[in-house]
Amino acid sequence: MKLAPSLLACDFTQLGEELKRIASAEYAHVDVMDGLFVPNISFGLPILSAARRASSLFMDVHLMIERPERYLRDFAEAGADGLTVHVEATPHVHRAVGLIRELGKRAGVTLNPGTPLEAVRPVLPDVDLVLVMSVNPGFGGQKFIPESVERVRTLRRWLDELGSAAELEVDGGITPQNARLLADAGATVLVAGSSVFGPQGPEVGLARLREALA
Ligand code: DX5
Ligand code: ZN
Repeated sequence: MKLAPSLLACDFTQLGEELKRIASAEYAHVDVMDGLFVPNISFGLPILSAARRASSLFMDVHLMIERPERYLRDFAEAGADGLTVHVEATPHVHRAVGLIRELGKRAGVTLNPGTPLEAVRPVLPDVDLVLVMSVNPGFGGQKFIPESVERVRTLRRWLDELGSAAELEVDGGITPQNARLLADAGATVLVAGSSVFGPQGPEVGLARLREALA
C-alpha cells in the first residue's frame, strides 16, 4: 500500500520542513481547488513549484478545478508527476487524460461520491490511476463515506477484468480504522490529510497508518 499525505493539512509556513517529515511516504498529494468546481480555494502553481523545489517526492496532483485541460501543461511544468482530473469538471475527460500522458505524466481520473462509477468506465483502459473520493471534495477533515468501500471493490474488479495495472487511490477521511478495509477492497494508494498532519505529527501519523495496514 502506498501512502499519500495531503499537503492541504500541513503547516504552510513550514512547507519544506513538512515535506521532509513525510519523506517515508510514496507520494505527496497536492489538492488544487478553484472555488468553482469545489466551494473552497486552496493553492495553485506557485505552491506546487515550491513543493517541487523542496522535495523529490512524487507529486500526486489532484485538480479540483473546472476545465482542468486548460492548466495541465502549467501543472506539469510546475513539477507534477501525476495529474488527476474529475469527470464532472470537463466534457473532454478522454482528451484530458490523453494530454496528461502526452506531457509524460501519470494520468489519473476521479469522481465525486455522488457520481455513478459508470462515468469513469470508458476511460479505464487509458488511465494510470483511478481515484475514489470518499468525501465530497473541497475540505480536509471530513468524515469517511462508508459506501466508498463498495465503490473501491467494484473498480478493483473492473480494473482486474481489463488487466489494468492502474493504481486505485482513495481520498478523504482515511484513518487507521478504515485503512485495512480499503486495502482489503483493493485500494493501492491511500491519501491522508488530517490523520497524517494531526497534533501527533506526520511521522507518528504515517507510522499509525502503516501499523494498521501491516
Ligand atoms: C478533499 C481533498 C483531500 C483532503 C483529505 O477535497 O481532496 O485530499 O485533503 O483530507 P482528510 O484526510 O483530512 O480527509
Ligand atoms: Zn485530494
